Amino acid sequence: MKLLHPSESLLYLLLTFGPFLGGLSIPVAVNIGDSAIFTCNATCNGHLLWTFHTNNENLDVIKCVQETCTKRDNFKTRVSLKPGNISTSLALYPVLYNDEGWYTVKCDSAFLCNFHLEALVPTTVSTSVYRNVTLPCYARTEKQITDDAVYILWKKDDRTVLQVQKGIATYGSGFTGRVSVSLCHYKEGDLSLNIFRVTPSDKGLYRCYHRTTEEQGYPGAVTLNVTADQKIFAKNFGENLSLDLFGSEHVKVTFTGHDADETPVCSVTGNQTTCSSEYTHRVSVINDSLVLRELTSTDTGTFTVKKGMDEVISVNTVTVEGVTQRHHYIPLSVLIGFFFICLFLCWQCHRQSQAQQHRCSYSAMQSVVNMNPEPMREPACIGLSQQETNPEPEVRPRTPVEETMPEPVRTTEKEDNTEEYIICGIGIGETI
Ligand SMILES: *[C@@H]1O[C@H](CO)[C@@H](O)[C@H](O)[C@H]1NC(C)=O
Ligand SMILES: *[C@@H]1O[C@H](CO)[C@@H](O)[C@H](O)[C@H]1NC(C)=O
Ligand SMILES: *[C@@H]1O[C@H](CO)[C@@H](O)[C@H](O)[C@H]1NC(C)=O
Ligand SMILES: *[C@@H]1O[C@H](CO)[C@@H](O)[C@H](O)[C@H]1NC(C)=O
Ligand SMILES: *[C@@H]1O[C@H](CO)[C@@H](O)[C@H](O)[C@H]1NC(C)=O
Ligand SMILES: *[C@@H]1O[C@H](CO)[C@@H](O)[C@H](O)[C@H]1NC(C)=O
Ligand SMILES: *[C@@H]1O[C@H](CO)[C@@H](O)[C@H](O)[C@H]1NC(C)=O
Repeated sequence: MKLLHPSESLLYLLLTFGPFLGGLSIPVAVNIGDSAIFTCNATCNGHLLWTFHTNNENLDVIKCVQETCTKRDNFKTRVSLKPGNISTSLALYPVLYNDEGWYTVKCDSAFLCNFHLEALVPTTVSTSVYRNVTLPCYARTEKQITDDAVYILWKKDDRTVLQVQKGIATYGSGFTGRVSVSLCHYKEGDLSLNIFRVTPSDKGLYRCYHRTTEEQGYPGAVTLNVTADQKIFAKNFGENLSLDLFGSEHVKVTFTGHDADETPVCSVTGNQTTCSSEYTHRVSVINDSLVLRELTSTDTGTFTVKKGMDEVISVNTVTVEGVTQRHHYIPLSVLIGFFFICLFLCWQCHRQSQAQQHRCSYSAMQSVVNMNPEPMREPACIGLSQQETNPEPEVRPRTPVEETMPEPVRTTEKEDNTEEYIICGIGIGETI
């Protein structure tokens, strides 16, 4: 397989196009089915030409004269120029396996930009936030290799995550102490990367290489998908809600009710909270959780915990049962009052039923609703049957909380084996 690592493709380009390019080549690695975007920082007012070539083929992709563009059949429905009549950027969607190769854009025969597209067979690992995860990668390594001779490189979106060379680990920014590989496993052909407590910003395309020639492992790339923690809470009126903040330095909590408007609840820094007026007196930070006290049914909805730039950490769906909303107290008490009047009247009805049932019902109704000119029959009993189901919601006992959580999603993640890191691991605790 002609596997060209970015550095090799650069070399190739230097040799091939050196005189035109000045050595500029942009690697683009995309999963099959995703979109590839070739962003060229140039403008063209003349004839624009995008070409595709591999070691075996050489094709025009799109050719534009003034504003009239023609596309080759293989790319016809899949390429589009980015908006702007002098744009030189191209989007390709969906990417096919044999789209891998070089894409070059020229303006009036003058070279503008060159890209190398790598079409990856997708391998996805999905996990929810703050779990430990292992990204798989395998290679035909030497069983007898000495620790010092091991070379492993993991990159994410073309930036170093972890490099192991001469027994020393070097971390990319944000990964220090959070990632590890096992030298023992390397000798068994396993270069898998362990990541501790993934955050939403860990999402991306990870690539693994080994040997100082930086050969790709298999699979060559793994897409890490980090989803929010999902919780469902079934609460009773008056109980407390505890939202896990996962030890985050700074988080924002929002609430989305039935009206579907997302409103701010609190922003939390350490144990300091800044909350909207309706929440200020009801919240506190206890043991890395935001506790919202004395739930009412107005709290039925979704509490979303976000970190940094709107990265969603958790989505908490809450239902509060037991009593109606506070602002329904007045109409509710009127209703309950009416119910008791009805009950009383009905009881009277019963007492006098044998002899004067018809008259009683008629006069009872009149005494409640004087302005109704139409006499109604047995109105009190109609009201009663409607109210029977929930006579006294306020005094329902406050039963203990029951929190239900969905089963944690089992992904391709492997079991952590802490011991292994101690015996022959590298990464955690190492310094450069
Ligand atoms: C494009 O290139 C020009 C000239 O090199 C530079 O001034 C400009 O900042 C670049 N724009 C972007 C978006 O990179
Ligand atoms: C094309 O771009 C040029 C320069 O930005 C502009 O003057 C011209 O109006 C544009 N033409 C069209 C049809 O958009
Ligand atoms: C992640 O790994 C660390 C260290 O092995 C362990 O203490 C922690 O409980 C693990 N977390 C999860 C969510 O499994
Ligand atoms: C990540 O996971 C979520 C939830 O399972 C899913 O909706 C989304 O499409 C996934 N994204 C990728 C890139 O796989
Ligand atoms: C709610 O929290 C408050 C203060 O933290 C506590 O006093 C109260 O007992 C809690 N209520 C329940 C139902 O747990
Ligand atoms: C808040 O945190 C600081 C340091 O983290 C601690 O000293 C303080 O006691 C905490 N306050 C409360 C009310 O928990
Ligand atoms: C906080 O956590 C500690 C240890 O897990 C526990 O002993 C303590 O009771 C907790 N405090 C509250 C208020 O939940």
